[in-house]
Amino acid sequence: MKVRKAVIPAAGLGTRFLPATKAMPKEMLPIVDKPTIQFIVEEAKKSGIEDILIVTGKNKRSIEDHFDANPELEQDLQEKHKDKLLKLTQSITDLGVNLYYTRQPHPAGLGDAIYRAKSFVGDEPFVVMLGDDLMNDKEPLTKQLIDRYNKTHASTIAVMRVPHEEVSKYGVIDPSGEIESGLYNVQSFVEKPAVDEAPSDLAIIGRYLLTPEIFDILATQKPGRGGEIQLTDAIDTMNKTQRVFAHEFKGERHDVGNKEGYLETAIEYGLTHPETKDALRQYIIDLGTKLSRQNKNKKN
Ligand code: UTP
Repeated sequence: MKVRKAVIPAAGLGTRFLPATKAMPKEMLPIVDKPTIQFIVEEAKKSGIEDILIVTGKNKRSIEDHFDANPELEQDLQEKHKDKLLKLTQSITDLGVNLYYTRQPHPAGLGDAIYRAKSFVGDEPFVVMLGDDLMNDKEPLTKQLIDRYNKTHASTIAVMRVPHEEVSKYGVIDPSGEIESGLYNVQSFVEKPAVDEAPSDLAIIGRYLLTPEIFDILATQKPGRGGEIQLTDAIDTMNKTQRVFAHEFKGERHDVGNKEGYLETAIEYGLTHPETKDALRQYIIDLGTKLSRQNKNKKN
């Protein structure tokens, strides 16, 4: 069956970005001039996804507004002949995918957020895309997962090698053999293991291709780490009755879910954005000179 649907959970509290996220969704934080969630929707579109369900919650109205038309703004831009900006604004309403919304009443965990997509997904395979991770590669990571599914017809989770000391921030897989380049059989999926107990350095990153049987498991999934309903735990259970593969992503990943990763990503994207790249590059060179001078003075 063709993979046509994606679920983007966006109902989390975004506590790592407080106070910015007190009243504003984390998913609307911009990388230069584009909210992170728009990157995710664009990746879905490029991967052939047709329907997207965004799971939202309190204080998340601006996500819906962002993808909706804004007639007042558009009229103003038109009257002032700001054609480029008008086209840019209209292009967001015209991304070529169908967007649907539902709410998660309490942020009870990623697994609970995904369970809200049960009737939207129905009996089809689907992808889950987390807004915290921006991926760059020749082929979008979501498309890579869909290509794997088209051959195996099995759930496939994206993983990536991370430095060993960082494994406790992620779900981690215990691989039991690489069946073909970059595709692993998995013994178990472990949510945020202690560094000395992690079964590997292959961490789950924010893209999942799942078969609809995951909903039967989520229906009775008990809270796990942090008292939250963990998607990783449900995937681990599913792996006991049907095969779940791991696909190793070898492209570039930007973790925008923490402050440092967010700032680094904004700088890197700023260095490629036509309106900012030259001035930003010069600024970084000057800043580097200033900082190394300060460093030298400190040492002396
Ligand atoms: P995160 O744990 O990274 O997001 O969840 P968070 O909870 O918003 O952020 P922090 O940790 O408090 O800073 C991964 C994704 O799952 C969604 C989040 O919105 C995020 O996109 N999520 C998480 C939900 O939709 N519902 C939840 O109950 C939990």
